[in-house]
Amino acid sequence: MAHFAWGKTRQTKVEQEGSAPGLGLIMPDITDAEFNQLSQLVYQHAGIHLPPQKKELVRSRLTKFLRSRKLASFHEYYQAVLKDTTGLELINLLDAISTNMTAFWREPKHFEFLGQELLPTLQQKCKRTPQWRFWSAGCSSGEEPYTMAMVLLNAMANKDLTAVKIYASDINTQVLNQAQRGIYPLSRVEPLSPEWRRRYFQKGVNQFEGYVRVKPEVKQLVEFFRLNLMDHFPFKQEFDVIFCRNVMIYFEKGTQTELVNKFYQCLKPNGYLFIGHSESLCNISHQFAYVKPTIYRK
Ligand SMILES: C[S@@+](CC[C@H](N)C(=O)[O-])C[C@H]1O[C@@H](n2cnc3c(N)ncnc32)[C@H](O)[C@@H]1O
Repeated sequence: MAHFAWGKTRQTKVEQEGSAPGLGLIMPDITDAEFNQLSQLVYQHAGIHLPPQKKELVRSRLTKFLRSRKLASFHEYYQAVLKDTTGLELINLLDAISTNMTAFWREPKHFEFLGQELLPTLQQKCKRTPQWRFWSAGCSSGEEPYTMAMVLLNAMANKDLTAVKIYASDINTQVLNQAQRGIYPLSRVEPLSPEWRRRYFQKGVNQFEGYVRVKPEVKQLVEFFRLNLMDHFPFKQEFDVIFCRNVMIYFEKGTQTELVNKFYQCLKPNGYLFIGHSESLCNISHQFAYVKPTIYRK
């Protein structure tokens, strides 16, 4: 594995999910009414459904905002989010609430299908330089779209990929910043084979000891941007493949139905939709053809 060492900046410490900063301080209580107000706000803006069991999680993830803004209650915090005309408070709220668990090579069957079946089929059909568009919708900190990029590079060795793009979006600005940096603790790349780690990552030295960085040829295939999946999709061209895995699990059936139909609209004919292994399109009204569990075709 090649090495990298650049700049003087240290890695910023990533806060543990769900942990309140300043351990030892007393956490303010959250009433049912306050929880309902906040969960309603999150639902309206991000489609994320927070059942009553999530009350403690909401309290622990939002307490830091009450402290930093010296607010006495969650109601005051709710009012502050509503009053903020910049929209920044809402972005911070959604950043704190969304769950971003992800991994390289997560749910391997999808990547095996992509590399061994789908890409060879797409390749047979294309006579010129491939002009494919992929989308990782709800990409979190980048492991999913970077895995797609590695599968592409591996399957298409020595082919011209200049007209191939993997678009990768998320609602959470913090994970998007991490994704854009493309720097991960060494332990994160363990699911990848030693050969792929060598081929597609540089190992950090000095202050970056214990970290790896995705190589430029992987990074340049991926373009990150913020998109709330509840909003209008801004795309002018259709996609060949959409991955939306472990995202719809946080949405209610009606929201899932709308989203799946929006995905259908922005896929090319015969385009593919991949969803998470714990998700299903059963009980959803849609026009996709079933290919394999969690894989669908337009
Ligand atoms: C559990 S992660 C899944 C990451 C990746 N797809 C995977 O399977 O490993 C779910 C992601 O969906 C994002 N998300 C949740 N609601 C969203 C919304 N309304 N619009 C866009 N992204 C959303 C979250 O911020 C989070 O990063």
